[in-house]
Amino acid sequence: MNMKTLIINYKAYKEAFTNGLDIAKYSDELAKTSDVSIIVSPPFTLLRDIAKISKTIAQGVNEVDPGAFTGHVTWFELKQAGVAGTLLNHSENRCTSSKNGPVDYVALKMAVDKCAASGMGFFVCVQNLEEAREVLKIKPTGIAYEPPELIGGNVSVSNSKPEIVKEFCTLVKQNSESLALIGAGVKGKEDAEKSIELGSDGLLVASGILKTDDYKSVINDLVKGLSK
Ligand code: G3P
Repeated sequence: MNMKTLIINYKAYKEAFTNGLDIAKYSDELAKTSDVSIIVSPPFTLLRDIAKISKTIAQGVNEVDPGAFTGHVTWFELKQAGVAGTLLNHSENRCTSSKNGPVDYVALKMAVDKCAASGMGFFVCVQNLEEAREVLKIKPTGIAYEPPELIGGNVSVSNSKPEIVKEFCTLVKQNSESLALIGAGVKGKEDAEKSIELGSDGLLVASGILKTDDYKSVINDLVKGLSK
């Protein structure tokens, strides 16, 4: 059985700054004693500290090299901060040239190429199968199906859209070596087990962990579900 992956996306939640270090420490300890790879994705200002503790990826990167680009985040900064890679094209930070426009695959590929050239991984989010087909062409480390309407809610992607999840996982397996990840509304062990039954390689989770004081139990449950 291949190793499953759990990505914990801290988003811009305030809790990232109160519980983020502890979540990273706990995740790192658990990853060492389980067969699940746990990766945390904190806000940019926490990257350097958290990357010292656990496997860490950024929440995005701009497609530019170091230079006169005020307010941009470059692959070089990420590398300097010691992170292993980045999320890209998350629904809350889409790679588009206009608001609500289609994905700008040219810009996405530029960002991806810079990450790959610097030895970093890249996990690209998609909202549907059509985007998944396009994104697979750029050979991401992982591709994550997250239906936007379920993000932050209490109904998980695996329960709400099992057929699409199955189709997504099959598409990824048949056409690439990328990890097939899913996310949105994931809260516990049953969601994790179901995602594995449907063929996924793991999960992206945010509110289910960041928005509870009992985050250690939730991480533990998710790892148990993914380990089955
Ligand atoms: O990247 C993970 C995320 O978008 C899912 O969010 O809060 O539904 O777990 P959430």
